[in-house]
Amino acid sequence: MRIYKSVAEMQAACREVRRGGKRLGLVPTMGALHAGHLSLVRAARASCDVVAATIFVNPLQFGPNEDLAKYPRTWEKDVAALEAERVDLLFAPSPEEMYPPGATTYVIVEGLSEKLDGKSRPGHFRGVTTVVAKLFEIVRPEVAFFGQKDAAQVAVIRKMVDDLNVDIRIQVCPIVREPDGLAMSSRHSYLDVNQRKQALVLHRALMRIQFEVDRGQGLSARLIETGKGVIAEVPEVKIDYLEIVDPDTLDPVSDVSKGALVAVAAYLGTTRLIDNIVVGRQSSVVSDANR
Ligand code: PAF
Repeated sequence: MRIYKSVAEMQAACREVRRGGKRLGLVPTMGALHAGHLSLVRAARASCDVVAATIFVNPLQFGPNEDLAKYPRTWEKDVAALEAERVDLLFAPSPEEMYPPGATTYVIVEGLSEKLDGKSRPGHFRGVTTVVAKLFEIVRPEVAFFGQKDAAQVAVIRKMVDDLNVDIRIQVCPIVREPDGLAMSSRHSYLDVNQRKQALVLHRALMRIQFEVDRGQGLSARLIETGKGVIAEVPEVKIDYLEIVDPDTLDPVSDVSKGALVAVAAYLGTTRLIDNIVVGRQSSVVSDANR
């Protein structure tokens, strides 16, 4: 695996790959890699000739009171994991390399960026779309891989790609869960043993909603009430949102008959947890089902 820290070097390496007619896949990450990230790498490895990954804890997507400083950084372990998955190119720039002094250009997907996580984390999606647009431009892959865990992020990135006619296919991979159902997240390293158990209530709430849908309940209001009732059983978990929305527009839907994204975010102490399921559709990801 070749590791690059400068934009110019990464751009040159990717240009070389494209010139050779190779299919280039990109897996953007913030490091602290877990099995969820590695599933994206494997999907890329399975369908691309050359796999590029990025590790960059993007300051632009963290709010002033968020966890940028303490976000887990596990460089050696990450490099070993990516080597083991046969990643070819790793781009790991410094914040100054990505945002040189004087850079004043941002990419904003208006509207969508203020929904779900964007509502509680103002500026978050502006940071995500700006860095992802830059990574797309540096690497220019044929396909880029993202996790369904960040379903709102997927919707925002897809809209950016559509609106700006970016010639990159977005492939969404299913959520990877621990054996007990907890959706994998780099932020779980913040949780103590007790909190780790409490965090499971989000998955229980989603499973309960799924159960109700399977029994014929289609009304979002009822389903949300049920889910919130489950989460209330663990008072330490404070709901940020539990919404049932269209996976593309992120607008609330009143019933799930045409398929819907059930998305939840909550705080456990200072740790923010998110999870989601797709109901009323065959697929567990908001992938290419309606494209
Ligand atoms: O999903 C993430 O890890 C980040 O939001 C991303 C896409 C790598 C952009 O920093």
